[in-house]
Amino acid sequence: MPMNYPDKVSIIEVSPRDGLQNEKQTVPTDVKFELIEGLIDAGIKKLEATSFVSPKWVPQMGDNSEIMQRINRDNNRHKDVCYSVLTPNMRGFENALAFAPDEVVIFGSASETFSQKNINCSIDESIERFAPVAEAAKAAGIKVRGVISCTVGCPYEGEIAPSQVAYVTKRLVDIGAEHIGVADTIGVGTPIKVQNALKAAMEYIDVADISGHFHDTYGQALANILASLSLGVAQYDTSAAGLGGCPYAKGATGNVATEDVVYMLQGMGIETGIDLDKLAVAGQRISDFLGRKNGSKVATALLRR
Ligand code: HMG
Ligand code: MG
Repeated sequence: MPMNYPDKVSIIEVSPRDGLQNEKQTVPTDVKFELIEGLIDAGIKKLEATSFVSPKWVPQMGDNSEIMQRINRDNNRHKDVCYSVLTPNMRGFENALAFAPDEVVIFGSASETFSQKNINCSIDESIERFAPVAEAAKAAGIKVRGVISCTVGCPYEGEIAPSQVAYVTKRLVDIGAEHIGVADTIGVGTPIKVQNALKAAMEYIDVADISGHFHDTYGQALANILASLSLGVAQYDTSAAGLGGCPYAKGATGNVATEDVVYMLQGMGIETGIDLDKLAVAGQRISDFLGRKNGSKVATALLRR
């Protein structure tokens, strides 16, 4: 194995949040909770449980309090699992705080237009909104992760310059983000472009604190992960059964499937701590509920055996 690939990779499982936020049908809290438990049983140690956004904007996350209550009830909470939630502003943070999330995610954009469409403010305004969230989170002993959308391409502006990624990374790090997720929201990236976006982020944050978040719209996500691994990026936001999409990024399909990423990594001798068979079952169960074809090729192959 080339020396520059990490020997261990951490998965940030985003299916309960990114995976379900764009679904037309209502997914009951019980089904979300069962998904979360299935993921944890498969070895997931970090996941996005929900988002504390406006229910008018994203109705599917309207049960954010219920899901967090459920996680906190009856010894359901796993001490060794990091439960993250998205918090776009102080209102969201205050709502989330009651449930003691382990990490909050402030989510900005490298594209000005996408920022407006997704969170109704400019990039600079978003930083002003995130700053008190980061400060309050730190004061409460909660980790702060920043995610940057549209780091290679935007549904409204087309190609995005790496300098935009560097700019937003710097701003997020300056206000206290300890980690930066570099997202290809609409899955248009190809390996060199993704590497350039990551390198831009690396101007302001250590590679150990960067994750790649790749949607698979154009089928490039695994290639983009391989390219990211070669830069030493060892954390990836992925989604069981390849679920996902952002309601404000029309046409973008799901995140890269966790099963496909884990299979690739296992084949490369890179440790993930995940039981692929259990993960495939969890992903199939939610796909069955949604009445969708499983978006993971690996899960489909494994479950056919
Ligand atoms: P706004 O309308 O500009 O907010 O929305 P506002 O401050 O003007 O408030 C308007 C109303 O919303 C008020 O209520 C507020 O209280 C309420 P009213 O007085 O009218 O009854 N409100 C809230 N309610 C609940 N929770 C809150 C909250 N904030 C205000 N946190 C806002 C601004 C950011 C809230 C809105 O634009 C929003 O919720 N956007 C969320 C969009 C979203 O969730 N997108 C998907 C996640 S990002 C993503 O998927 C990308 C990612 O996966 C990476 C990638 O792939 O790129 C992370
Ligand atoms: Mg996403």
